[in-house]
Amino acid sequence: MSQKVRKAVFPVGGLGTRFLPATKAMPKEMLPVVDKPLIQYAVEEARDAGIEEFYFVTGRGKTIIEDHFDRSYELESVLIEREKNALLAELQASVPKAGTVAYIRQQEPLGLGHAVWCAKRLVGNEPFAVILADDLILAETPCLKQMVTARDKMGGGNMLAAMEVLPQHTSRYGILSPGGEQDNLIEITALVEKPDPADAPSNLAVIGRYILEPEIFNLLENQSRGAGNEIQLTDALSAILGTSPFYGLKFDGTRYDCGDKIGFLEANIAFALHRADMQDDVKTFVTKIAQDA
Ligand code: UTP
Repeated sequence: MSQKVRKAVFPVGGLGTRFLPATKAMPKEMLPVVDKPLIQYAVEEARDAGIEEFYFVTGRGKTIIEDHFDRSYELESVLIEREKNALLAELQASVPKAGTVAYIRQQEPLGLGHAVWCAKRLVGNEPFAVILADDLILAETPCLKQMVTARDKMGGGNMLAAMEVLPQHTSRYGILSPGGEQDNLIEITALVEKPDPADAPSNLAVIGRYILEPEIFNLLENQSRGAGNEIQLTDALSAILGTSPFYGLKFDGTRYDCGDKIGFLEANIAFALHRADMQDDVKTFVTKIAQDA
């Protein structure tokens, strides 16, 4: 039986340059898809997967995220006064329980690997999940839950979410080199960062969900800067390969890259089309806009 994954790290220290000017003063993770910020989807996904403790690696200009996961007494009293009870209950339910949330500053955005390393003392010596909120996944069973279930079956180990991409798009992703495959679970033999299609070992891309054993922290601690002069998570993951089991799960669901403008627009339409209260209106206006264009 594998050790339970109880803790999740949410790296939210990035600058979000692909989404400027929206992200100049507002964190990318607070961009709403329909009516909910990306980071709230990420926290809900973690909760659904059994996560009990939530660690945010933040940076300058990100305090609004702390406010979002806190009680808002003025707002709550207005909602009570106006008898908006369902909305009130929804807001209160979105606040994690006292003592289960912590924020740690990544003083400089030195890369995703560095952001994860910043959570080392909070996570301690146990397996943990990492969720990148800008990779939003629409799925019947939340992606992290699928990963936790698959990892339990394997008795533990490191795992990441993988998805097939168009062969001509490999240079946009971390790509894995697959070994054996069973039930959508692929043994990873190598990881290559953004390879040209001609050099790519497969078209299986790494998506922003990971379950990692704590050994990763030692590797990140001593790691020098890699591509883009940043401390890359992929480099530390590559170092783990061969020393500890490492799987990619081809999850069921659709991923939207909400750090990118087109991906973000797609996500808004797709999530709205899944909402019973708005799907008819959305279908009508999307069809009309497309016809008029
Ligand atoms: P991205 O590669 O999307 O970088 O980071 P970014 O800075 O957020 O956005 P762009 O590329 O400039 O538009 C992937 C994830 O890693 C986090 C980001 O917040 C995002 O969730 N990250 C990245 C950090 O927490 N710290 C960093 O130093 C870099």
